[in-house]
Amino acid sequence: MDKKMLIRKAIETLPNSYVPYSHFHVAAALLCKDGTVYTGINIENAAYTPTICAERSAFFRAVNEGKREFDAIAICGGGNGVITDYVSPCGVCRQVMREFCEPETFRIILAKSEDDYKEFMLNQLLPLGFGPENLQ
Ligand code: THU
Repeated sequence: MDKKMLIRKAIETLPNSYVPYSHFHVAAALLCKDGTVYTGINIENAAYTPTICAERSAFFRAVNEGKREFDAIAICGGGNGVITDYVSPCGVCRQVMREFCEPETFRIILAKSEDDYKEFMLNQLLPLGFGPENLQ
């Protein structure tokens, strides 16, 4: 699975985003180490706090299916579903990534299109993170 294909999957998933309150659509495509991909969208709620971000949707789908090892995630989004800028994961989603991913190698791809993206390692977006090994 190359980077462009992962980005394409995120962009294709964007219309499924359920955002009647913010109208800010986000989609993610998560690449597992075994080559499978799980997409996710943000799903908002009338009570606001039950809202889940696209990144966590993708992670929780994958983990529910028994996946535990991940290589990369592509993220895209924008107001009214129009991609005008890079969407960067919120702090809670970065922490969920930290649970399952190696901070030095897990790639986070913020995409405006297949050809216009920025790429970071998890440890760049979550320095000095608290992870599972801290509880051992
Ligand atoms: N959101 C995500 O899905 N991912 C992010 O990385 C940032 C924020 C969602 C949550 C909410 O539905 C909307 O964007 C506005 O905050």
